[in-house]
Amino acid sequence: MKVFLTGASSGIGRALAEHYAGLGAQVGLCARRGELLQELSDRWPGQIRCYPLDVTDAAALRAAADDYLGVYGLPDVVIANAGISVGTLSEHAEDLEVIRRVMDTNFFGMAATFSPFIAAMRQARHGRLVGIASVAGVRGLPGAEAYCASKAAAISYLESLRVELYGSGVKVVTINPGYIDTPMTRRNPFPMPFLMPPEMAAKAFVRAIERGSSQVVIPWQMAIMAWVLRRLPDFIYDRLLAKAPRKRR
Ligand SMILES: NC(=O)c1ccc[n+]([C@@H]2O[C@H](COP(=O)([O-])OP(=O)(O)OC[C@H]3O[C@@H](n4cnc5c(N)ncnc54)[C@H](OP(=O)(O)O)[C@@H]3O)[C@@H](O)[C@H]2O)c1
Repeated sequence: MKVFLTGASSGIGRALAEHYAGLGAQVGLCARRGELLQELSDRWPGQIRCYPLDVTDAAALRAAADDYLGVYGLPDVVIANAGISVGTLSEHAEDLEVIRRVMDTNFFGMAATFSPFIAAMRQARHGRLVGIASVAGVRGLPGAEAYCASKAAAISYLESLRVELYGSGVKVVTINPGYIDTPMTRRNPFPMPFLMPPEMAAKAFVRAIERGSSQVVIPWQMAIMAWVLRRLPDFIYDRLLAKAPRKRR
């Protein structure tokens, strides 16, 4: 088993890295904090290649992919998981740069992660491209303009790619997590329904990847919530959400 994964230094990505490494997979790990990737590599010597990089740097991702392809060959699974979450309000001029950074990381970083692998996967008629989007991409949430927009963009991007690759032997899997207990959500100043430990989430993600699901929401309770939210008329949605607690800016 061969897996290439971004956002592997923390939270969901780290749990996925531990899961796959524990199965004996050959894993390529990307994140900015190289020392945290190195810790994983020390635990599974010879099984892990570390790529300390920023996913907004497409050239760095391509170089990492080339190294991985040279050492281990074509990955079975590529997971674009790296992401950041912060509250933003575009009425504040200083938030514009933050909005750009969120889009760059969560959306552009995903495309840049897959890009170096797509042609080779097509040729081999094999592989899974997995994008970690979010339930936050289903509808806009107040105070989370950039995060919601980046995840909605990710969901649409993944769907376009999935249809583009239909019948090619390459599957595209969209995973929309609800609340997972990671450093990202520990900053949230509000109660989080159906909060799931990252190890349990990683196992559920892996099952969806193995099935080759087109799109899943995890946990299942959030799938019901997302289904309802998607169908609520705007006049009810707006009233219900107007007073919802905001992410910190
Ligand atoms: N936790 C949740 O409830 C939840 C819900 C829905 C969706 N998600 C999504 O799940 C993914 C993982 O989130 P998490 O909860 O595990 O958060 P996390 O613990 O904060 O981990 C985020 C990971 O992304 C990496 N990352 C962030 N910016 C990066 C960049 N510019 N370049 C390279 N790596 C970068 C971080 O590594 P470095 O800081 O070392 O670079 C870290 O490994 C994200 O896409 C997030 O939006 C999470």
